[in-house]
Amino acid sequence: MSSEERAADLLARLTTEQKIKLVNGTGMSMSGNGSQKVAGAAGSTYSLAEFGIPEVVLSDGPAGVRIKPTRENDDNTYYATAFPIATAIASSWNTELAEQVGEAMGNEVKEYGIDVFLAPALNIQLNPRGGRNFEYYSEDPLIGGLMAASVVNGVESQGVGATIKHFVANQVETSRMVLNAEVGEQAMREIYLKGFEIAVKQSQPWAVMSSYNKLNGTYTSQSKALLTDILRDEWGFEGIVMTDWFAGDDSAAQMAAGNDLIMPGTPANQSQIAAALENGTLTEAELDRNLTRILAMIFKSPAMQGYDYSDQPDLSAHAQVARQAAAEGVVLLKNNASALPLKGVKRIATFGNTSYDFIAGGTGSGDVNEAYTVSLVQALGENGFEINQQLQQTYEAYAVEEKAKQPEKKSFFQFIPPIAEMAVSAEYARELAAEEDIALITLGRNSGEFQDRHIEGDFNLTGTEQALIETVSTAFHAAGKKVVVILNIGNTIETASWKDKVDAIVLPWQGGQEAGNAVVDVLTGSVNPSGHLAVTFPVSYAQIPSAETFPGKVVDPEVIPNPYLNALPNGQKSVIEYIEGIYVGYRFFDSFSQDVSFPFGFGLSYASFDRTDATLTTTEEGYQVSVTVTNTSKVAGKDVVQLYVSAPQGKLQKAAQTLQGFAKTKLLAPGESQTLNLSLTAEQLASFDERRHQWIAEAGDYQITLAKSSREPFWSDVIKLTSEQTLSAQLTPLPTSQPVNALQR
Ligand code: BGC
Repeated sequence: MSSEERAADLLARLTTEQKIKLVNGTGMSMSGNGSQKVAGAAGSTYSLAEFGIPEVVLSDGPAGVRIKPTRENDDNTYYATAFPIATAIASSWNTELAEQVGEAMGNEVKEYGIDVFLAPALNIQLNPRGGRNFEYYSEDPLIGGLMAASVVNGVESQGVGATIKHFVANQVETSRMVLNAEVGEQAMREIYLKGFEIAVKQSQPWAVMSSYNKLNGTYTSQSKALLTDILRDEWGFEGIVMTDWFAGDDSAAQMAAGNDLIMPGTPANQSQIAAALENGTLTEAELDRNLTRILAMIFKSPAMQGYDYSDQPDLSAHAQVARQAAAEGVVLLKNNASALPLKGVKRIATFGNTSYDFIAGGTGSGDVNEAYTVSLVQALGENGFEINQQLQQTYEAYAVEEKAKQPEKKSFFQFIPPIAEMAVSAEYARELAAEEDIALITLGRNSGEFQDRHIEGDFNLTGTEQALIETVSTAFHAAGKKVVVILNIGNTIETASWKDKVDAIVLPWQGGQEAGNAVVDVLTGSVNPSGHLAVTFPVSYAQIPSAETFPGKVVDPEVIPNPYLNALPNGQKSVIEYIEGIYVGYRFFDSFSQDVSFPFGFGLSYASFDRTDATLTTTEEGYQVSVTVTNTSKVAGKDVVQLYVSAPQGKLQKAAQTLQGFAKTKLLAPGESQTLNLSLTAEQLASFDERRHQWIAEAGDYQITLAKSSREPFWSDVIKLTSEQTLSAQLTPLPTSQPVNALQR
């Protein structure tokens, strides 16, 4: 029997009340538990034992499985692997690696008795302040979409489901449940929808999670245009759509729009649906349609197969995957006079709180309960380096004192910022510089759900951090010794004002539980860094167009309570206008000739590469660009080639260039070559014409550039279009208010 036939057979036997139950989750307790079966899972669906329908369990989140690590009256532990955050995975520019991470995460999902993973998340890193940027991949939708597709494919290879979230335009945490994002149609199509389109078409995930926000006045979870016309009819999505937890304000409207499952599910949601069925605003056919899709998901689930899960995934094998992924996501931002890899260094002075207490990942639902996090000093110690003991003890004592002053967490989502940096005197720095071979300074940042980051002391460094860099650099340089900064951060910070003071900068992001080992792998050269930025480091916060609009303008001062998370209100009704239109990230910096601190796509290596014999050819699907990369150095390394398209300026808004492809070599031995082939479809040349609701490639010269970063081109050629090409049918117009793009070229 096909899934549809099985569903039809079952639907004929269910009462309306039973159907209503099945389109709603079972709820969530105040402790954040949403499942009877797996402690700490975010949600589950109702079981109907008499019909053989099991409870299906759903669990977060993007950096690994989030469940409770311990259970009452149970001596076993249920730790999960904390993999590097999505931003770090994207920095690898290696989709195979993303797939391997997905496989390992999917295996933990399955072995812990979970059916559906609430990840990956692929919203756009619009502004450095976005509290959940760490859960997302990039400011660019191509890299975000391809990374998400790879993770989905990896997760689902294990026979469990993945969920791409949060669909769509969910870039702000402040007042996130009552925020209206005003976004123009071209920006929606080219930036915010694009990544989801790629992920749906390349991985057909089991589920999509709609977002909290409104888009142009309508909750995304209540928008038929988004959830049915675009997602299913245009892109061919076959899975279920679920709400984000407690999202929207009308369960019946969600059902009608094609949001199949309401999560975590409340009695109020069920009554709303029952009332709408009674008064005819929701039809039984719509309910059956949604339930048929949910049943198809349930039929595929490990729970339905009666999978005998072990509760013992191979955590040590997965730790190796996490370490490898963390190392490959490290971006070497600066390396003056070959400060790295470390040579002749034995004794190290390690500054910065997070050197001793690495931040594995962000907070909130994207957090993971891992068994341990390897810190930088621990990994250095295990690799034979000697850490200055007095300095270590000073930092450890300071941390105990500062942590004791921190407020107690009142709810799971309350964000407690990391402790402030400790001041180090010039005299002490000089003493250490006399004794030690090198200084490492780690700067740490954290953020999480429900709140956005701050500009001062968060994007910008604190005075103490600035002074620390200055004091340590002056002292160590005076003693002829080097200073290396390590950035244990979830998204960008200001680097322009201090980067000249230090010799090297290493960016491991929040690299998961094995980050300490991964950083030491890079410092020693046992791993040659091959990460590249998937987000631009601006010179200053004020440069960014959304500096003026983020996180939105309050339109009603009343604070709306959250009936389920009473410690955290939903916020105040707000609007954010996406005034930058399509000019997000490097699309803005490159189109408006802005200086950046580190450009999109940038990353150094200990090796050097020649890139030769680039050719552009026409293929059946469009075009192919080939290039041969040769390692011209004495150390093995991997190179990343990026393909940008500059479309001719015409009637439509067009960024100076857009990333349309990338490829990474294998580990090339000294002297070894590899030919990379990057494909480009005719559709990828097009821009979205919001008047015609169509993808159009205007006539003219399309410059195809191969580059090391968005600012380091090394080859280019031209595709000439002699006439305008229409590359899609007329598509669903989006709910719009008025055009908001204030930025125009
Ligand atoms: C988050 C989702 C998450 C869900 C379940 C929500 O607060 O926005 O990303 O999957 O909670 O934990």
